[in-house]
Amino acid sequence: MLDLFAEEPAWREPLADGAAILWRFAIRDASALLAAIETLSAQAPFRHMVTPGGYSMAVAMTNCGASGWVSSRSGYCYTACDPLTGAPWPKMPPLFLTLAVAAARAAGYENFHPDACLINRYSPGAKLSLHQDKDEYHFDAPIVSVSLGLPAIFQFGGLRRADPLSRHYLDHGDVAVWGGSSRLFYHGIAPLKNGHHPEAGAWRYNLTFRRAAKEE
Ligand code: SIN
Ligand code: FE2
Repeated sequence: MLDLFAEEPAWREPLADGAAILWRFAIRDASALLAAIETLSAQAPFRHMVTPGGYSMAVAMTNCGASGWVSSRSGYCYTACDPLTGAPWPKMPPLFLTLAVAAARAAGYENFHPDACLINRYSPGAKLSLHQDKDEYHFDAPIVSVSLGLPAIFQFGGLRRADPLSRHYLDHGDVAVWGGSSRLFYHGIAPLKNGHHPEAGAWRYNLTFRRAAKEE
């Protein structure tokens, strides 16, 4: 009998159909990614965006790439310019793009062309409530999510908010990818525990790569 699981390398853990964690996939790039976040956030600062309901988000965010995710009183959308500075979002560094494309490929997605990289910054206590990523024009491209700095518990559910959650400890350099039939699965981040990371201090950073806009 063909044992499909025997084909699965130790660094890749399937989460659901179309979804996997690539353990430490970004570890060799991690220091350079953190340095790039520093440079990018000098141009487009981290800010606590306001939700449509009027709450300030616990996670601080910024973006790079042609499209940047924005939340405000009027809703969620992607914009070409940073509403804070009026300037276009900083370009996506080649290192980011190469990593995102390689991670997508390692999870079974060829030809991933991300135009958006949301940069999340969590301090201890910050969480990201269960949500679906559904502000993108196409849902045929996967989501590639890179964890840096302090570890966090990633919650991964199903198509309905009430679906059971699996919990995964994501550490510095780990990458989660979901797409295909799990593209719209609910997911979130549990409140970050206190800690100190040798390279990132008291922060967790997350890079979320997406294909957001209609056109190439
Ligand atoms: C997200 O869902 O956009 C981010 C998830 C994470 O921080 O790992
Ligand atoms: Fe998300």
